[in-house]
Amino acid sequence: MQHDIRRLPFQEALPRAQRVVQTCLNAMIPEGQANDLLNAMRYGVIGGKALRGFLVLEGARLHRVTIGPASMAALAIECLHAYSLIHDDLPSMDDDDLRRGQPTVHKTWDEATAVLAGDALQALAFELLSHSDIGSAEVSRSLVYGMATAAGRVGMVGGQMLDIQAESKTDGHTLAEIEAIQNGKTGALIRWSAMAGAELAQAETEPLRIYGDKLGLAFQIADDILDVEGDEVTVGKAVGKDEAAGKATFVSLLGLDGAKRRADELVESACDAISIYGDDAETLKEAARFVVNRTH
Ligand code: IPE
Ligand code: IPE
Ligand code: MG
Ligand code: MG
Ligand code: MG
Repeated sequence: MQHDIRRLPFQEALPRAQRVVQTCLNAMIPEGQANDLLNAMRYGVIGGKALRGFLVLEGARLHRVTIGPASMAALAIECLHAYSLIHDDLPSMDDDDLRRGQPTVHKTWDEATAVLAGDALQALAFELLSHSDIGSAEVSRSLVYGMATAAGRVGMVGGQMLDIQAESKTDGHTLAEIEAIQNGKTGALIRWSAMAGAELAQAETEPLRIYGDKLGLAFQIADDILDVEGDEVTVGKAVGKDEAAGKATFVSLLGLDGAKRRADELVESACDAISIYGDDAETLKEAARFVVNRTH
């Protein structure tokens, strides 16, 4: 079956991904219910860039996967990502009051609701990927397995643990240590997002795996640079916190210029990895350039 849209430039494809995620979310969690858990879940998912959802949709389009399964997988990763942010902001983690220009979930409700909304969003992500509309049992199994691995002890949660532990390490960090933190806490979910379209089509995933690997690291470097150079209103979250908290980042190791150079090299490698798709990969290349030049 043919995908129903042509390739769009990145500046149109990203807002489209936000709309697709929103529409799919409306179908799962209708608006305006008198239910704190559901309202906190909705609140946590909306308002982000939807970059991971975009990567799923664009990888799916590249492989001519229909929008139905593609949008379910896009919502799934945005739910998982939203859960990671809600928990990341908790007082026991990064203790942040502002996210996406709004009060964080635990500030709007309370800590218990934030923990539970995150938990339920994680479960919803796997519910979506296990749904029969996603494709064959084999496709579903491979997406679920990939997401479980990317989310858990060797992926996002493992990286978050290293990130927290690194705060109390006083004798500095090596490049390998920082890469392990960033690959886990941020890289794993971005890599899953980049590969999901090829997984849905049961096609070769390797070029997009390499692209996702490089993009994930570049993305976190840009996040760390924004913490130093960005302003709170534009970034939509508190800035200047990483150094104060003793976070291990590429900026703390390489300095701002070194980190920027590393991010640019990673973007170049990401783009090289998908050159085999020719012009059809142009939007993904634009996305990689956006990741390091973004202001939020
Ligand atoms: C923020 O991710 C958390 C990191 C992994 C650095 P995003 O910058 O993609 O957050 P939203 O979804 O756009 O708010
Ligand atoms: C967060 O990294 C990564 C995850 C949520 C897994 P950060 O702690 O740097 O992200 P921000 O800056 O709070 O968005
Ligand atoms: Mg954090
Ligand atoms: Mg944080
Ligand atoms: Mg950050």
